[in-house]
Amino acid sequence: MEFRDELKTLKDQVKFGEFFKVDSFSNIVIAGMGGSGIAGRIFSEMYSDKPVFVSDDYSIPNFVDENTEFIAVSYSGNTEETLSAVEAAMKKGAKVHAITSGGKLGEMGIDTIKIPSGLQPRSAVGYLTMPIINTFIKPSPDDVDEASRILADLDANNTVQENIATEIFAGRRIPVIYGASPFRSIAYRWKTQFNENAKVLAYSSYFSELNHNDTMPLRDTYRKDEFYFMAFDSEDERIRKRIEVTQKITGTQFKKIDVRGTSLFARSFYLIHVGDYITYHLARLRGIDPQDVSAIEDLKKRIA
Ligand code: PA5
Repeated sequence: MEFRDELKTLKDQVKFGEFFKVDSFSNIVIAGMGGSGIAGRIFSEMYSDKPVFVSDDYSIPNFVDENTEFIAVSYSGNTEETLSAVEAAMKKGAKVHAITSGGKLGEMGIDTIKIPSGLQPRSAVGYLTMPIINTFIKPSPDDVDEASRILADLDANNTVQENIATEIFAGRRIPVIYGASPFRSIAYRWKTQFNENAKVLAYSSYFSELNHNDTMPLRDTYRKDEFYFMAFDSEDERIRKRIEVTQKITGTQFKKIDVRGTSLFARSFYLIHVGDYITYHLARLRGIDPQDVSAIEDLKKRIA
């Protein structure tokens, strides 16, 4: 499947209705790396009823026990850090679940939701995230419909995103993405999409934390014109004020990224997809295959 066609499946992925049956629990741990790991990060910003720990490591936190709902997310099912975390969670007696298209994880005999194969892991963000959201948040059918509708609109018209990619490409600039709660993880998702799809280094951070560090180099760094600064628009007045004052006192112009949708669910997936298209167009302009992750695969083989 062409990468652009992979992106177009997101509007259907958000309708993926699978969920895990869970009883009483004290905390949630979600383990995964890269394009799979983003599922836990996105979920952790939507949910705050119980503690959520997002693990992107071989090991798991000490607090994991039989009251932990532990969800391993790996598209291939063969990511060694995630498999190692699963084994550790099983030893601790946690309630272990998995989301995968197959691989070793799919054969471990644990409670597993199988998702369709044949996509790049990062293009399966809906399949990877929806089972977690369905289990613990249960979005309303209206929210799901809204998300699907605005994603379809973006599939049909992404000229704004193409123009941003063109500006980045014209200056061979390094993308800098600034988010704010509840979209801090999505700023990071954009960074990783720039890395894997367009094969460019990128940087992300978020308000208001960046007002306690990045604000200095935003004013005083060297080679500033080599960066392309973007900031997600925010519904929070204090964050809006911070964005405005940060631009003013540092003499930096941020490209404002508008967010569509009424529900947090729809807004999150819309923003994810905006990043998908900017990074896809940048890859296209560079003449680079957005599906190519050969260096990542090579590294995995060499350390196996
Ligand atoms: O997007 C990618 O291909 C990577 O970031 C992978 O998701 C990452 O290497 C982890 O692999 P998997 O998603 O199969 O667990």
